[in-house]
Amino acid sequence: MRVAIIGQGYVGLTISAFASQTHEVIGFDNSEKIVAQLNAGLSHIEGVSSEVLKSAIKNGMYRATTSGEDIADVEIVVIAVPTPLNKDREPDLSYIESACSTIALNIKKPILIINESTSFPGTIRNFIKPLIEKLSSTKIEHEYAISPERVDPGRMDWDQKNTPRLYAGLTPTATKRTYDFYSSFCDNLVEVSSPEVAEAAKLFENTFRQVNIALVNEFAQISNALGISVHETLEAANTKPYGFMKFNPSAGVGGHCIPVDPSYLAYAAAKKGAPATFIKRANEVNLEMPKYIVSRVKADNGGSLKGKKVQVVGVAYKPNVADVRETPAELVIDELVSEDAIVSWHDPLVKGWRNQQSTALGGSEIAIVVTLHDVSDRVAVVSSAPYVFDTTGKLSGVKGL
Ligand SMILES: NC(=O)c1ccc[n+]([C@@H]2O[C@H](COP(=O)([O-])OP(=O)(O)OC[C@H]3O[C@@H](n4cnc5c(N)ncnc54)[C@H](O)[C@@H]3O)[C@@H](O)[C@H]2O)c1
Repeated sequence: MRVAIIGQGYVGLTISAFASQTHEVIGFDNSEKIVAQLNAGLSHIEGVSSEVLKSAIKNGMYRATTSGEDIADVEIVVIAVPTPLNKDREPDLSYIESACSTIALNIKKPILIINESTSFPGTIRNFIKPLIEKLSSTKIEHEYAISPERVDPGRMDWDQKNTPRLYAGLTPTATKRTYDFYSSFCDNLVEVSSPEVAEAAKLFENTFRQVNIALVNEFAQISNALGISVHETLEAANTKPYGFMKFNPSAGVGGHCIPVDPSYLAYAAAKKGAPATFIKRANEVNLEMPKYIVSRVKADNGGSLKGKKVQVVGVAYKPNVADVRETPAELVIDELVSEDAIVSWHDPLVKGWRNQQSTALGGSEIAIVVTLHDVSDRVAVVSSAPYVFDTTGKLSGVKGL
């Protein structure tokens, strides 16, 4: 099949890499820079190797483009564009709107349109379909389906092939065609009864993580107040063979999904007048963690950080990726700056961020470890400053959560 994938970021390029093993894939992205890099065989996404990309290009199975005309004769379009929050922390569907416009302006025959971007229940039925129909110059009966993406960037054990994938179409034909497409590279497809169930399941998966991370972050604060080790307590609780799942305390949540997706669910709930109190409180607890961490560091260092040199170690939002989107390290740094500390940061994977370069490890009075990658030298991190505060629970012999 000829397939266009709109958006060549974490999700779109990952799907492109798998789909191009059996289908002819056109990776559409509106960033000239990304498209030029991709056509040169250079992947910008962890988990997609440049070798795989080069081989797909060489075999004529992949090419990237910024030109809408290049998607005119495809049979399937997959939408994989960002779905962030706006300044009021409400869903921002402007990227989806733009993708719909690209489809409507360029596709003149009926195709299958699948949304992989995360959004609230009803997005494919009540937003994408009517919008494409409105923007199309002639009446075309496309098929529509949803298959939310579950990629975990940087993860090697669960990928597109073995991670179960939910899917549902607006019609039985759309459902069947969606199965046919994904089953060519995914071994485990799970059909659900409606697109709304698939859309809601995706949001609930990430809400489950957000709420449990907030719960364990609150428990870290309780444990410290009680004078017990949160990590030892969690290990103890985790010996129960059923009914318990261990989450680890941290500086908060980051990335494109966990800080964002629950607010899509809360938005959908509010529209129907249903409460979403856990989501609101979990957001608050996670966003308060940087302040709590800095208050602990401050208390351990004579009650003031004014003029003290502090290095934040690890600014990516999670281990083993260079992704800094919504990273809690940003809030930790802002909090330190508001305490008049002299702040630098070090991350072996993130070269540049906030118009600054990663500094060499060490040379400060205080180090706050936010993210520890596998490549990070633990011994060097522990000895990088006279006082080290570890938020990851991976270092021993230092202060921390
Ligand atoms: N990153 C993840 O781990 C992950 C996991 C599951 C689901 N998702 C969801 O998948 C969607 C995409 O996320 P992502 O992480 O791949 O985003 P991303 O920022 O990595 O990539 C998005 C790409 O889309 C391009 N783009 C933006 N608007 C466009 C448009 N109108 N036309 C063409 N290209 C456009 C951007 O240039 C960028 O390359 C979001 O809804 C996200 O919530 C992400």
